[in-house]
Amino acid sequence: MKKSAKKIEFGDFQTPLQLARDVARTLADFDISPTSIIEPTCGRGAFLLASAEVFKSAQTIVGCEIDESHFKYAANSVENVSKNCNFDLMLGDFFLVDWKERLRKLPGPRLIIGNPPWVTSSQLGSINSLNLPQKSNFQKMRGIDAITGKSNFDIAEFIVSCLIDCLTSTGDALAMLVKSTVARRIVRSRWLNQNDCFEFRIIQFDTKAHFNISADGCVLIARKSQDGCDRICRVSDLDNPLETSNSMSVFDDRLVANMDALENTAPTLLLFPPAHALKWRSGVKHDCSKILELRRDDVGRLTNGLGELVDVEDAYRFPLMKGSDVANGKASNISKEIIVPQFKPGQPTGQLKSEAPKLFKYLENYEYLFAKRKSSIYRQKDRFSIFGVGEYTFSPWKIAICSLYKRLGFRLIGPYQQKPVVFDDTVYFLSCDTRIQAELLHELFVSEFATNFLNAFIFWDAKRPITTEILGLLDIQKLADLVWSHDQNKRQKIDSLNLGVTQPVLF
Ligand SMILES: C[S@@+](CC[C@H](N)C(=O)[O-])C[C@H]1O[C@@H](n2cnc3c(N)ncnc32)[C@H](O)[C@@H]1O
Repeated sequence: MKKSAKKIEFGDFQTPLQLARDVARTLADFDISPTSIIEPTCGRGAFLLASAEVFKSAQTIVGCEIDESHFKYAANSVENVSKNCNFDLMLGDFFLVDWKERLRKLPGPRLIIGNPPWVTSSQLGSINSLNLPQKSNFQKMRGIDAITGKSNFDIAEFIVSCLIDCLTSTGDALAMLVKSTVARRIVRSRWLNQNDCFEFRIIQFDTKAHFNISADGCVLIARKSQDGCDRICRVSDLDNPLETSNSMSVFDDRLVANMDALENTAPTLLLFPPAHALKWRSGVKHDCSKILELRRDDVGRLTNGLGELVDVEDAYRFPLMKGSDVANGKASNISKEIIVPQFKPGQPTGQLKSEAPKLFKYLENYEYLFAKRKSSIYRQKDRFSIFGVGEYTFSPWKIAICSLYKRLGFRLIGPYQQKPVVFDDTVYFLSCDTRIQAELLHELFVSEFATNFLNAFIFWDAKRPITTEILGLLDIQKLADLVWSHDQNKRQKIDSLNLGVTQPVLF
């Protein structure tokens, strides 16, 4: 097997020794002093060495690793460590070990420490790898079916969830490096689905600096606790782990990113039932920007992404604002345009031959680029199909926000040169028929109440922190009550809009 495929298969990102030391010292600062230490996917042994250095209480350090060369490297490294404790290393497959039984035989308190593979089940599927849990071995573990039942899951989520189940005595702890999204899924699932008592803590670290990867990562610490479970997970940074930056919790079954932001009035804004939420839409998805996105130069000529001049019918071109334009506030002078070959999903494009012959010829010239689009959503669809298009795309007024930016920036966008502005698929928006409607909604969304509420639910370290699900949590009628408690006139206007419930005026 090629080295790169093996790296994918084993989710292989070896922890630098210094990072392992920082993590171990942080655990010691939190009064974790184990007798037995277990590194279940130990690689070249950074956590074995760091643990031996930091935890003077340790008597036994167990390691398991599937890759023979890593295993030999680790075995060699621990040879040179002073023998205050025993090392028990095995070359083996995590998924074939009965970890509950293995841990039961070790004297407590126990610490499971390490950095499990960073790979998803679909990545493994794409290289036909079987480095996956064999279901029969894990049937007795709670909550595992919920993970493996998903079409795609993180192997680390599975491994860490299994290992948390092995922490049976007060004082047992786990500390593992995982993606932040994985850590949050684990914490939420334990809080909501399992009747057990763990104290969770998340310590963020810079994955770019340590592993040169872009996904956000953290040390997830789970500690079997003796007191009641308060369902608060403190979040801090590895540079200053004792100082909590915010606290995660659950409210009404929702994971709350920041309890402080969920101030007294904000919880009342949580919409129930969520089915009555305003319909946030995302912009156009086409994956063919070189052909469909145009730029207008100073003398009014349009060029495509290949640098060629383009002349196609005006009725199929619209002003385009990309996510960065929405986030950075450039609506007064839009120099980009987007070609929209379909006005609703699934619309055949054959009629363009007679209705827009210049456009039809242009698209046909570049059919090969449309055919190269990788996403399966284009399979067996019209050759020039696009997504995220419908009546709402062409409504004149919109409230828009870029989902990728790390701030709440709602923009009120009106028509540009008598045409509706169209967004790319990094933008979420509400469509409005009239300027007044859009202004009222915009005033509500930029209010302090809305900002506090949304900040409570947004995980700003996520790749796409703003989601339609989070935006849809906000009860607009209750928000109007709060924002316009002294302005019955505006309050009534919002009522008369009948927002999103019986007769939605918003598409
Ligand atoms: C992200 S690396 C981290 C290695 C080590 N824990 C560290 O912190 O440096 C994941 C490790 O898991 C090992 N691994 C992957 N699948 C495994 C399996 N089924 N059983 C045991 N080890 C496995 C890989 O070979 C790799 O060394």
